[in-house]
Amino acid sequence: MRFGVLTGGGDSAGINDFLYFLAQRLYREGHNLIGFENSWEGLILNKARELDHNQLEAQRFTPGTLLGTARRNPIKEGKTNDVLATLEDRGVDVLIAMGGDDTLGVANELAKQGLTVIGVPQTIDDDLRGTERSLGYATAVKMSADAVNATVNSNIAHDRDMIVEAMGRDAGWLALAIAINTPACAVMVPEGRMDLDEMIEAMQNYKRRTGKAALAVVAEGIELESFDRSTAARDAFGNIAYEGVSHGVAAEYKKATGRSPRVQVLGYLMRGGTPVPADVELAAGFANKAVDLALAGRTGEMVGLAGKEIKSQPLADVIGVKKTIPADVLSEKLKLLAL
Ligand code: F6P
Repeated sequence: MRFGVLTGGGDSAGINDFLYFLAQRLYREGHNLIGFENSWEGLILNKARELDHNQLEAQRFTPGTLLGTARRNPIKEGKTNDVLATLEDRGVDVLIAMGGDDTLGVANELAKQGLTVIGVPQTIDDDLRGTERSLGYATAVKMSADAVNATVNSNIAHDRDMIVEAMGRDAGWLALAIAINTPACAVMVPEGRMDLDEMIEAMQNYKRRTGKAALAVVAEGIELESFDRSTAARDAFGNIAYEGVSHGVAAEYKKATGRSPRVQVLGYLMRGGTPVPADVELAAGFANKAVDLALAGRTGEMVGLAGKEIKSQPLADVIGVKKTIPADVLSEKLKLLAL
């Protein structure tokens, strides 16, 4: 059989390992594999390449995606026919689409049109339903926590409070995990629970009690009255470019306390680094399961982690609504932050 693969949305560490495992399995069993360049753009423009085994091997344990990525939406652009023509032209029997909610939303539409499409969850945001983990999240947390823990001593030495901004869009998983893996005394996430006043109070209490500069983490997707997003750019899927809210938080903090904090926007650092073993294992499990499903003639499903197993669910059941932090999980974690 002839397989095609694309990697969409924001990239993360672990994608290149997934491509390697996918090729390993398929080549071992006598199938073909081509990679579409820049996510759905490769299918709109018919740009694809053979995935060479040696190149895949050489790019293991590197971040990014060797296929490239782009935020294009063939459905919204009215280019579905181009996608279908490309698949026909390339003789692709099975399409493996890796990415987050946007990428998999398009995959679901194509499956509805009768194509064999299998989805694979990959997003540092870890906001996809139907899987306990998305590929890339574990490495993003490790990279971020290492960066903050490497910086915080300088803040303490200079007595500058630190406000760290984490990606994650409308889900606070990344920000919360960074807070738990660093000496943060406060965290603001889109799911709520700690508002700006509470965050400022927690930081002041920390400084008073320990004598040390305080660290707080804010998720990029929080709402802040003084931070206007009405004119912010949007991508092809309608997502707002969120970056920058931490500067608004810092301004409010300074107004309230007279102390001038340092802002650290983690940004693309969160997508970098060597994939941690948990992500490499996930990449391997997802690759195997995606091939199993396709060879069994299944379509319109997404592989996902359920406990210790890799299972699958219909794409239609998991896309469209994001997995955010449940209130009880958030409350429990907030009790554990530095005092
Ligand atoms: O969805 C992954 C993500 O990293 C989000 O956390 C972030 O808001 C977004 O991508 C940034 O996208 P871009 O790379 O297009 O600026």
